[in-house]
Amino acid sequence: MRDVAVVGLGMTPFGELWQHSLRSLSVEAALEAMRDAGADMLDGVYLGNMAGGQFVGQEHLGPLLADHLGMRGVPVTRVESACASGGVALRSAFFEVASGASDLVLAMGVEKMNDGADATNVLATAADQETEAYHGITFPGLYAMIARAHMAEHGTTLEDLAAVSVKNHRHGARNPKAQFRQEVTLEQVMASSLVADPLRLLHCSPVSDGAAAVLLCPLDRAKEFTDRPVKIRASGMATSSMALAERRDPAFLDAVSLSGSRAYHMAGLGPADIDVAEVHDCFSIAEICVIEALCFAEQGKGGAAARTGETALGGRLPVNPSGGLKSKGHPVGATGIAQVIEIVEQLRGEAGERQVQDARIGLTQNMGGSGGSSVVHIFERV
Ligand code: COA
Repeated sequence: MRDVAVVGLGMTPFGELWQHSLRSLSVEAALEAMRDAGADMLDGVYLGNMAGGQFVGQEHLGPLLADHLGMRGVPVTRVESACASGGVALRSAFFEVASGASDLVLAMGVEKMNDGADATNVLATAADQETEAYHGITFPGLYAMIARAHMAEHGTTLEDLAAVSVKNHRHGARNPKAQFRQEVTLEQVMASSLVADPLRLLHCSPVSDGAAAVLLCPLDRAKEFTDRPVKIRASGMATSSMALAERRDPAFLDAVSLSGSRAYHMAGLGPADIDVAEVHDCFSIAEICVIEALCFAEQGKGGAAARTGETALGGRLPVNPSGGLKSKGHPVGATGIAQVIEIVEQLRGEAGERQVQDARIGLTQNMGGSGGSSVVHIFERV
């Protein structure tokens, strides 16, 4: 396999973007990534999108994107793995370039969730239809059960959960593209309206619109496009049972653990080598479970990591310096690529007020549903 580099970045702001459409968001992010690299052609595109058909009535996104990019003829593959669609699009693009089949490949993601569709029910199509969604459960409900299991097994507290939201809002306040740029206090999180006990409004990622794109090429051509290439050291992916009730331990995200260990193995690195990470905090409990499954914290100690400042900017291992899904927003198909953009900016030294000092190795973790799929990538400053 050839070494692969990220050489261009493009991202729209995340939020309720009423003046934008699915196609305008996609085109804006794609063109920005190409402009960032000074590229005027593509060999292919992988486009992550969970539910264009259900959110805005638009399927067959490949030719739509190629046409509106002014690139009819370019192969575009739409990739779907629920909220992990963006991360899996990156993985697909990475292997296409690594294999030698193509040189310039765009990995991108888009979702337009605020266009009138009932987002909660559309999202619930990514749960197990027969054993979960049919009975009325939604994602806030599933993650509430994960939170209750974690609290019962490990003594995780409501303050631990709230500390994740406080941290990520503090980080997101420094991110000009974030949906919610205001800091929140522990008391505000604890008093926000109840969504699914014990999760409250300020534990939840929002319903968002947005798109993100990254341009990949072989590392040995990277200097044609940028003087700050970032190498993709590894890609690991795994699946678990869709249904939470089928898992050995609902508080342990086994697909995250397996995707992480596959990525660590491929990179020849371990958790102690990571300087900065973007992980899938769709609900505050998710960040706690994910950092345990990736071995950034001992099992049961993920809540303490946020509470004691270990995972804050300036801490031992900053997690979600972008503000995470909680504050930056979560247009589901775009999230996995937006995580990559934050890590590449960190490794390029371009993260401004959010910069992690001397960051050399970064990790992204992107998850589908309640952890039925997970994909992890590891990046290195060249
Ligand atoms: N965090 C912070 N503030 C939020 C928010 C969030 N997640 N979601 C909405 N708000 C704010 C809105 O901006 C609005 O503020 P305003 O009154 O000052 O204008 C207010 O809260 C009410 O917004 P509204 O859109 O009516 O909220 P809602 O009750 O319809 O939705 C949730 C709130 C939490 C239910 C919704 O954001 C949600 O479903 N989130 C989870 C999404 C999800 O499951 N993603 C997939 C994960 S696997």
